[in-house]
Amino acid sequence: MSIHYDSNNKIFHLKSKKSSYIMQVVKEGYLAHLYWGKKVRETRIPNPLRFMDRGFSANPDKRDRAFSLDTLPQEYPSYGNTDFRNPSIHIELPNGASITDLRYHHHEILSGKPDLEDLPATYVEDDSEAETLRLQLKDEETDLYVSLFYTVYQELDVITRAVFVENNGTNELLLSKVASMNVDFRESQYEMINLPGAHVRERDMERLPLRRGKQSVESSRGASSHQQNPFIALVRPETTECTGEAYGFSFVYSGNFEASVEVDQTSQSRVTMGINSFDFSWLLEPGETFQTPEVVMVYSSEGLGEMSRTYHKLYRERLCRGAFRDQERPILINNWEATYFDFNEESILEIADQASKTGIELFVLDDGWFGKRDDDHTSLGDWFVNKWKLPNGLNHLGKKINEKGMQFGLWVEPEMVSVNSELYRKHPDWCLHVPDRRRSESRNQLVLDFSRSDVCEEVLSRITSILESAPIHYVKWDMNRSMTEIGSKSLPAKRQRETAHRYILGLYWVLEKLTTRFPNILFESCSGGGGRFDPGMLYYMPQTWTSDNTDAISRLRIQYGTSLVYPSGSMGSHVSEVPNHQVGRVTPFETRGHVAMDGNLGYELDVTKLSDEELQQISEQVQVYQSIRKTVQFGDLYRLVDPFQCQNYSTIHVNENKSEAVFFYVHVLAEANGPFDKVKLDGLNPDKDYRIIETGEVFGGDELMYMGLNVPYPDHDFKSVMWRLIEQQ
Ligand code: DGJ
Repeated sequence: MSIHYDSNNKIFHLKSKKSSYIMQVVKEGYLAHLYWGKKVRETRIPNPLRFMDRGFSANPDKRDRAFSLDTLPQEYPSYGNTDFRNPSIHIELPNGASITDLRYHHHEILSGKPDLEDLPATYVEDDSEAETLRLQLKDEETDLYVSLFYTVYQELDVITRAVFVENNGTNELLLSKVASMNVDFRESQYEMINLPGAHVRERDMERLPLRRGKQSVESSRGASSHQQNPFIALVRPETTECTGEAYGFSFVYSGNFEASVEVDQTSQSRVTMGINSFDFSWLLEPGETFQTPEVVMVYSSEGLGEMSRTYHKLYRERLCRGAFRDQERPILINNWEATYFDFNEESILEIADQASKTGIELFVLDDGWFGKRDDDHTSLGDWFVNKWKLPNGLNHLGKKINEKGMQFGLWVEPEMVSVNSELYRKHPDWCLHVPDRRRSESRNQLVLDFSRSDVCEEVLSRITSILESAPIHYVKWDMNRSMTEIGSKSLPAKRQRETAHRYILGLYWVLEKLTTRFPNILFESCSGGGGRFDPGMLYYMPQTWTSDNTDAISRLRIQYGTSLVYPSGSMGSHVSEVPNHQVGRVTPFETRGHVAMDGNLGYELDVTKLSDEELQQISEQVQVYQSIRKTVQFGDLYRLVDPFQCQNYSTIHVNENKSEAVFFYVHVLAEANGPFDKVKLDGLNPDKDYRIIETGEVFGGDELMYMGLNVPYPDHDFKSVMWRLIEQQ
């Protein structure tokens, strides 16, 4: 049993393998937060909530001047009723009022985990894996019921949260905010970590002490975005990679989100996460319901590394789905940086031919194969093959590639439409737009209105036809702009601000249908690289193109930041040519290989232009990666050297029984007369001996972890090593 209820004291105790989460119903039914942290056995509560009369904190019950919601740590605070901090829910009634007063109404404990309606979420394969508490709150005045769902994954050591709202009253209610979770920490000695970035510079790590007031991150771009990721963590000032407390919050959603931490007047910290309330509203007619997306909460008392490994395992095993979830992923070559739009059947087959000789397993035909697409001004939406470039069609090309011993994959960007396209000429209203306003283009394209079911159905049918037309084993699903003029012709005025969320629901609907229809296609999501690297997309597509920046050195930070939440196997990572197309840097082929092998290896360069020596290096990298990919893609990741702290970078991946490991180290800049560096490994079994395949040396796991392993002296810039460790019997 993971969920315990003490009915005398009205205390809920949620216990996972190593953590406890405790709540209590206090006073006239307010749901208070008591504790979240290291596991405790009982709930005798040595630190009960304390109350006192505080000036300017009003009292719901005038007989009790010590009690105010303004200072009460809560689980799902509402607005207008003595709490002046950030509310989780905000509604508008027909009379213009916007107050709610949510009190405990009912609860039930369910085995397993219920699915979320029409939304991606973590799941169980067997009900014994998790237990769910449904805690129903009620606003008497409006007959609004708010169910808080807490699922406890016992072994995986995770709590998920989601909220289900029901309008059981007789009035229309306009939801202008409905968060997926809130937790009020009873202190504020924390730092907040988030993952800001930009296109080609995704997921930097930022760590700042909390200050009083509200600090928040959000996206209002219609996607989870390059600029912020739907993730924050609170850590103690002393928390490191391997020690100290860390609390992670990861939002399983691909659209606009907000995550905030508000430090209040009594030094408590309110963490709230959900769909971005800016420019959002949702009309709930009597009898209607609303389901929020899920937040995955992870507590670690052993630093950020443990927090990340918990996310990685959960996302690998109980978020990703389908045939590829547990399968080693193919090593691919993509023609984008090799050719951009300038290719034809002959040049593609030449690249494929050369690639196949190196052992690369899958060829991906990127943008430019359809309509009249010779550049980015045209043809999105016209999903039929470009006969000038590919006169024999996709089926023929796919078969030719198969004959070379490689699988065939295809790029698509189904959510978009070019103004210069047959689709747009036929259906100018099918894009997101607001009547009488300009339709702002970005990369010369508009966004199709996926809030409309007719648009979703048509796109699904066109993409289905393409995927049925050729032997396609892989799809790269791209999305290359942020949303502007977000409005839908299909919705009435009072529902216009539902468009962005309805879009995401439409997208999920299409992805569900498509991935079900093609269970043997490996899908990789992409949004100009990592503009939608989020758990929502991972539910449908087990890997994501991490960044359009393929420079090995830029990738160190991008992959390190990404790894805070997302598993290595989900990170598409390619070797590309030098000078690098994004930053002009020249790095050794070996280093590019090592950095790409630290994720999901692929190639993205014109192999017909490479020297024999470079082709030989690809063959070797492919063979090595085939021997390590199981450990990299499905093992435990330990981050050893942080490129945000010192430029250099190191990680080790360890398989489940700690018999094999793969160590990566990159020294960025050579230094005259510099120090001799060593790296302390992690995650090994201290009682086992390991042989380093590349050097033949044997060391104890204890020696490698406690004393450290010498790494090569950096006699040139961008020096790297990859060492395979294997248990010595
Ligand atoms: C953006 C992607 O991230 C690139 O890899 C490439 O597929 C281009 N789009 C094609 O337009």
